[in-house]
Amino acid sequence: MRVAVYSVKSYDEQFLAAANSSGAHEFVFLEPRLTEETALLAQGSDAVCTFVNDDLSEVVLEKLVRLGIRGVALRSAGFNHVDLAAASRLGMQVVRVPDYSPHAVAEHCATLVLALNRKIHRAYQRVREGNFALGGLMGFDLYGKSVGIVGTGQIGACFADIMLGFGCRVVATDPFPDPHCEARGVEYLPLDRLLRDSDIVSLHVPLTPETDRLINAERVAVMRDGVTLINTSRGRLIDTPAVIQALKIGKIGYLGLDVYEEEEGVFFEDYSERVLHDDVLARLLTFPNVLVTGHQGFFTEEALQNIAETTVNNLSAMENASTLVNEVTLERPDGQ
Ligand code: NAI
Repeated sequence: MRVAVYSVKSYDEQFLAAANSSGAHEFVFLEPRLTEETALLAQGSDAVCTFVNDDLSEVVLEKLVRLGIRGVALRSAGFNHVDLAAASRLGMQVVRVPDYSPHAVAEHCATLVLALNRKIHRAYQRVREGNFALGGLMGFDLYGKSVGIVGTGQIGACFADIMLGFGCRVVATDPFPDPHCEARGVEYLPLDRLLRDSDIVSLHVPLTPETDRLINAERVAVMRDGVTLINTSRGRLIDTPAVIQALKIGKIGYLGLDVYEEEEGVFFEDYSERVLHDDVLARLLTFPNVLVTGHQGFFTEEALQNIAETTVNNLSAMENASTLVNEVTLERPDGQ
């Protein structure tokens, strides 16, 4: 199958080429993101392969279908950026990589919690300047703290295990409680109770109409003073201006983000010599108690290898008209 692969970085090319060493597919590696303007680059391909910030809205899908493209292979677990209704109407198949490494993202969450709490980002700079004073670097023991996990799917459940290992009390909210988590002592609570009871809140739900801006001003208000908030899922789970307001008054004590609602076109790119036009992101970056990483939760060797291998298998299943175990449709939005 000839596949136009969008948003390609050197590491994507390396792992996809290795997974496709048998030459099952012909990959056309493209640096640009998929947009209305770049859809034409897929001409002559049978499928497109995309990442989290590619545009798979109705208008783009229509353009792709007009080029004869019938399949979309997502190199991600999340698929909130795909218009599944339009894909279904246009007869396009959409496949994803559901669980390439929950450990990669869960471990990144733990990294954000630890770095924020012990102010590693500040300590690193300080020591390099020859300043070994400790003022301003005081943290807190994680042991005995309450961690609230919103969504205990693959990643949330993994993060629960990690935080239980630190001796934290772990509470969670999910319409489908995980028996493994329950057996390990995770207590399921309604969201507002969880927010009231947690010193650390971490978000692990997909972005859906129901979870859009789940953390808004009202929900921030019920949280504990000085709460640590971590979001590695999707930027729009958080009402960013409300969170900035809460940081300004100290309601939120620490904020760790690996995702941002306007990340398209900024994250994964080098802006070090350009002016950042997003004032909200720029404001976030001024807080000493905010740590932003550029959507790197997934970025481990193991995860990239799994993503590439599953993507090649998904494309082969599409080509051979076999059962698409990783298909996402309107009827099966969880891909199960
Ligand atoms: P998953 O599908 O295994 O788990 C999601 C869980 O959220 C499910 O248990 C579901 O029942 C629960 N849920 C859905 N709506 C809810 C609600 N309103 N309240 C409480 N729980 C709810 O997904 P997985 O693999 O754990 O990934 C979670 C999210 O992490 C993905 O949707 C994606 O957005 C993000 N992600 C981020 C990455 C990164 O690099 N930062 C990499 C991979 C995923």
